[in-house]
This record gives sequence, structure tokens and C-alpha cells, in this order.
Amino acid sequence: MERPSTVEVWWGDLRLELPQGANLRTALLEAGVPPYNGRAALLNCRGLGSCGTCAVRIIEGSMSAPSGIERWRLRFPPHRANSAHRLACQISVDGPLKLIKDWGFWGQGEQE
Ligand code: FES
Repeated sequence: MERPSTVEVWWGDLRLELPQGANLRTALLEAGVPPYNGRAALLNCRGLGSCGTCAVRIIEGSMSAPSGIERWRLRFPPHRANSAHRLACQISVDGPLKLIKDWGFWGQGEQE
């Protein structure tokens, strides 16, 4: 059975059809919904996985496992290793996703 060429991705209340296997950061930028808040749209590492500003919170879905640099970056504040955040630049869209962007420069959202 052939895999679908696009997958449904919910970006908050916005429904997108993104290419199967696409890099999430790239696909969101191409769809006109950057995974950044404020100045982070300009001040980011361009997908190297080192700045942490493209963090998105995964509500549900199927995606690639975290890369080594992603695990490394998400251990540093303001991120937390045990949060539901992932780095959009390190995600390959493998199936339907629901995600949101939390507030804050890094998209870190609420801290406990
Ligand atoms: S763009 Fe810098 S970590 Fe993703």
C-alpha cells in the first residue's frame, strides 16, 4: 500500500497538509506559519538544532525520534528535558500531528 504524499498537521486551530517526510520547520516556513515567536524569527540557528527557538509542543502525533542535538538542547533552560516540547527543525513529519506554539522567545511556555 502506498503511503499518502501529504499528512494532516494541526497548528493550533489551523489545518495544514504537509509533505510526508518533510522537515517540520521547513514545511511550516513554506506554509507561512513560522515556528517562532517574535524576534526568534530572525534570531535562530536556521535549523541546526542549537538555539531551541523553534520548540513546539506536541499534543499528539507521529514523528521521528529526537536527534542527539535535540535531546542536548532541550536539557538546557528555559527548556526542560521532560516537557512535551520538540524542536521543529529536528522533526521529520511521519504522520498526522497536532501541535501548538507556546509563548516565550524559545516557545517554552509555562515553567513550574
Ligand atoms: S531553529 Fe534553532 S533549534 Fe531549531
